[in-house]
Amino acid sequence: MVPRKPDYGLKRGGGTRSGAVLNFRSAANLRSVRRSSAVLPSVLTFLVIVASGGLLLMIEKGMLNSMEPPPPRGSGRRPELAGEAILQEIRNRTIGTMCSQKNMPHSVWSLSPVQRKTLLQHILVNDQYRFLYCYVPKVACSNWKKVLKVLSGALESVDINVKMNHQSDLLFLSSLKPEEIRYRLKHYFKFMFVREPMERLLSAYRNKFGEIQSYQRKYGVEIIKRYRKGVAKDASVTGDDVTFAEFVRYLLDEDAERMNEHWMPAYNLCQPCAVSYDFIGSHEHLESDAEFVLQRIGAPPDVRFPQRQTWYKPVTAETLHYYLCSLPQKLLRELLPKYILDFSLFTYPLPNTTTEHCRH
Ligand SMILES: *[C@@H]1O[C@H](CO)[C@@H](O)[C@H](O)[C@H]1NC(C)=O
Ligand SMILES: *[C@@H]1O[C@H](CO)[C@@H](O)[C@H](O)[C@H]1NC(C)=O
Repeated sequence: MVPRKPDYGLKRGGGTRSGAVLNFRSAANLRSVRRSSAVLPSVLTFLVIVASGGLLLMIEKGMLNSMEPPPPRGSGRRPELAGEAILQEIRNRTIGTMCSQKNMPHSVWSLSPVQRKTLLQHILVNDQYRFLYCYVPKVACSNWKKVLKVLSGALESVDINVKMNHQSDLLFLSSLKPEEIRYRLKHYFKFMFVREPMERLLSAYRNKFGEIQSYQRKYGVEIIKRYRKGVAKDASVTGDDVTFAEFVRYLLDEDAERMNEHWMPAYNLCQPCAVSYDFIGSHEHLESDAEFVLQRIGAPPDVRFPQRQTWYKPVTAETLHYYLCSLPQKLLRELLPKYILDFSLFTYPLPNTTTEHCRH
């Protein structure tokens, strides 16, 4: 066990010492404010867009390139590429700043019962290595669950090719008592993994509606009946040909707090303001970030993060471009605010949705 630093108080203050991030509100990009204000449900989201607009501006202008990478902290840290370290630092500061806003939740207990239930059902517990992992579907979560099962002795090796059972042999924070939850949140190493929000959505769409019959029946039929003209009473609808645009229409009508977990924003699943994560890895650096976590929790050296499955179909930049650009502009412009907290807190730039860009 690596002894924990008592750093909980520091994290929240992170925003105040980060000049770069504080500036981004003053660097607020008026263009993005005007463009999005029509679709914004609340002042909070409005603020977030202002903030992320400024951050985007800084990224575009290369201002972040001149930021100093954080100094190495202790021996447990991996030797990092400067770019990745900067990304971690920016993400950390952004979360610190955004989460210090008054309206944001500051603890698990200040969440609404629905929000808390979702969160606790997505946090997996390992008491031996003292960590909590909040899983986000479509962000390598099956592989992490495998690792957890190997660490707890329920599975012999990560290389065993079993059909993943997403419930058995896993301990969820939701099954513990409040004081047990409190203890673990306070003392354990907490991590999660994120992915570019639109890439994650597309991955869910292609997997669930392209391959999984139960989803086609449960969601596909309803989506087609709701959004395709002339089939509302048609009993022969099988739900296996939902278009991406129909899927997006459906998402726009869904409440982010009650969505299916495969397309629920990572923000709602893991509540990064209510839980102070020690590490937020990204799908884009999956191998090195996973390696870092395994080392940090003190996993035995023979427990490695599994290789990608042979059937794994990556979402390439071209595929994403194709799908996003095939959407009516109006849909896309309404979709982005729905995932705005994932874009801004986890510092993903908003996709370029201009007609000009889509022509390429
Ligand atoms: C953010 O930075 C603090 C202070 O350096 C650190 O303790 C914490 O683990 C970091 N959190 C994330 C999510 O990287
Ligand atoms: C979007 O893409 C177009 C064409 O590639 C480019 O000219 C424009 O600057 C981009 N806009 C942003 C905000 O990146």
